[in-house]
Amino acid sequence: MSDQFNFKVDIERGFESPQKFIPSKYFYDAAGDRIFQQIMELPEYYLTRSEAEIFEKKGGSIVDALPFKEAFEVVELGAGDGSKTKTLLQEMLRREMDFVYRPMDISRDVLGQLKAHMLEDLPTLSIDVLAGDYFHILPSLKVDPHPKLFLFLGSNIGNFQPAEAEAFIQMIANSMNSGDLLLVGMDLQKNPALIEQAYNDKAGVTADFNLNLLKRMNRELGANFNLDAFEFYSHYDPVRGFVNSYLVSLEKQIVYFSAMDKSFLFRKNELIHTELSRKFSGEQIDRLAFRTGFYVRKEFKDEKEYFVDSLWEKV
Ligand code: TRP
Repeated sequence: MSDQFNFKVDIERGFESPQKFIPSKYFYDAAGDRIFQQIMELPEYYLTRSEAEIFEKKGGSIVDALPFKEAFEVVELGAGDGSKTKTLLQEMLRREMDFVYRPMDISRDVLGQLKAHMLEDLPTLSIDVLAGDYFHILPSLKVDPHPKLFLFLGSNIGNFQPAEAEAFIQMIANSMNSGDLLLVGMDLQKNPALIEQAYNDKAGVTADFNLNLLKRMNRELGANFNLDAFEFYSHYDPVRGFVNSYLVSLEKQIVYFSAMDKSFLFRKNELIHTELSRKFSGEQIDRLAFRTGFYVRKEFKDEKEYFVDSLWEKV
């Protein structure tokens, strides 16, 4: 099935639901990738810098905490550009540890670029990419006899609804053996004003990132969204730790999609949900680990305690 077919079906499903939504994976077309790079450089968006600081300052302690006595594997889910991981791998190589790095991604292109990029700086790295979706690859890892460190960084777990986050970690857990480790990145609950600003920056880059979804539907699905008739809105609920991002329809309007020869009605002030970005408390992290069959071995935080990379051991 083509990506375009999925996009069409996902948008139809999202716009036919009582609370309209767009699956957040559609943020990342070529333009969206560029805007996301800008988000990561915003003064308000602390997440990337906080986690990078953890790897720079605590990378050695993370490696110290690994109990592996024999050859092991580092399996990364959603590797991205791998810059944080590189700091960690570099430290492992410096200590002459015996390991293979296995980044996992649906896209062979992404993996090819990541591999080239890694080998440029770490020419002695053993790297073996895993192309495909998690549901197919993960179960095959359990039969491999090497102990493993799994990486799920960058607060990606926060973009799942709570039940889905638990199911996703459970799926990882099911592919792990007792004693294997999972290092998971999570954004922490903090002063709510700081979180609000991170998801609604002054320069309007986050707004552009969201409005780009409408541009993408216009271009790829032949929709006729008027970009001036929608506005970005985000809201942080500090009690639950949820940032929800939306597009708001500023007027009653009908949008036509030539790709499915269908129209959708947007009421005045109707919301389209675009992303959930969860912020965790220490208690929520402990509970999530416990419920999915882990115990929290060690936590690594940045100086300001904005972000945590939590090291879990499979029981
Ligand atoms: N998904 C990432 C996050 O939750 C990226 C992101 C930053 C984002 N700002 C956003 C996604 C605004 C949607 C809307 O941090």
